[in-house]
Amino acid sequence: MIEIAIDGTAASGKGTLAKNLAKKYGFAHLDTGLLYRKVADELIIKKKDTSSNLVYYSTKIARDLNFLELKKEDLRSEKTAKLASFIATYPKLREILNLKQKEFVIKNKTKFPGCILDGRDIGTKILPNADFKFFIDASIDIRAKRRLLEKNISFLQENDEKCMLQSLIREMKERDKLDSSRITSPLAPAVDAYVIDTSFIDADELLLKVTKIIEGI
Ligand code: DC
Repeated sequence: MIEIAIDGTAASGKGTLAKNLAKKYGFAHLDTGLLYRKVADELIIKKKDTSSNLVYYSTKIARDLNFLELKKEDLRSEKTAKLASFIATYPKLREILNLKQKEFVIKNKTKFPGCILDGRDIGTKILPNADFKFFIDASIDIRAKRRLLEKNISFLQENDEKCMLQSLIREMKERDKLDSSRITSPLAPAVDAYVIDTSFIDADELLLKVTKIIEGI
């Protein structure tokens, strides 16, 4: 089974790349950020997000998590993402979610010719022996613009758009900082990862670039 590890910053294009590759090659795919987002979302729903015992509640939720039912659309908000990034600093929670990610790979070994995981620590921690590792990044301005476009808000006044962009840039910078400065499995390219900047290329060009690397052409 071929293993592909994709890491990178928020809105860098890593998720779309993972989906496109999975479709192209018929591989199993897991967006590992969804696991952290789901735990964060449950904390918010159960009104435990301001609890002083977040480690206890987040690990309890994580143990019962059925990650096959997760959908990004339900977990997209920046509030959820921010809390996900915060609780992702807990080593105990990471241990539980790491096991679930490894279980996903083992379960799909006989069902698919390959497996793709995307997240923050896939190449460094979850799949250290992956056949291919990619680290995807882009400038903060471009990533914030992509996030704004995803929100699909029509008839935005120029000033409102500027304000929203500024606040997205602020939130994303904070999240990047938290993700890359935590002690356990911080966001960082694996030493053997192909690092790709998507600031000036679109999803199709990225797919082509990565496909060429995988197929050795
Ligand atoms: O990929 P995403 O934006 O959906 O991830 C949300 C948060 O989850 C991210 O800011 C950090 C955390 N995360 C992580 O720590 N490790 C992963 N493998 C995936 C996500």
